[in-house]
Amino acid sequence: MIDVSDSDPNIETVLLTADEVQRRVVDLAAEIADDYHDRECLSLVGVLKGACVFMSDLGRQIHRQGGPKLTYDFIQASTYGNGLKGPDETERAVHVNGLSGALRGRDVLLVEDILDQGFTLSEIRRVLIEREGVRSVRCCVLLVKDLAAPTPEVAAVRREFVPEYAGFHVPDRWVAGYGLDVAELYRELPCVVIVKESQFSD
Ligand code: IMP
Ligand code: MG
Repeated sequence: MIDVSDSDPNIETVLLTADEVQRRVVDLAAEIADDYHDRECLSLVGVLKGACVFMSDLGRQIHRQGGPKLTYDFIQASTYGNGLKGPDETERAVHVNGLSGALRGRDVLLVEDILDQGFTLSEIRRVLIEREGVRSVRCCVLLVKDLAAPTPEVAAVRREFVPEYAGFHVPDRWVAGYGLDVAELYRELPCVVIVKESQFSD
């Protein structure tokens, strides 16, 4: 197995191996299949682009574990653009595109790669409920970032937005792999790595 942190000077270390990620996806899927066992259908809504790898594996595992029928939708939420977030950002405009009433009355599982400050997911949840009229919404994130020094605004968002399903807690660093990117790179890695942020900041 190639150790990407040995061969790539932009990567500090492997945080979660591919096996660790896959085992956790199986556990999350088991929990989800069980919680929705009385529902005929569950609508997965992935946030592009980061969630696509996680959602592919999660959906297949929910199926393997006898979960409900699934539908797949993807939405685009523009947040960090191409780079890394700034150190003193407290709020960002989040634009949600890609839905048009098709989820009205559905049970929705919002699938996301990482919960960082929480603006993206709390805005998407609001849009699903208020604009799209879904029946229920829960959230499944692979990673939850433990923020080192959140502003009071961010701390409030994070207190208010607690995902029902969460894979791993990760430190307040930039991570990539398994769908997550830094400057659009590393999404294809089967593991999750910590990036050397200094190599990517302008
Ligand atoms: P939030 O609104 O701060 O929670 O922004 C979350 C979004 O920013 C995630 O959906 C990711 O797309 C991106 N993001 C935040 N932290 C990271 C990271 O460490 N690596 C890759 N993407 C990240
Ligand atoms: Mg994302």
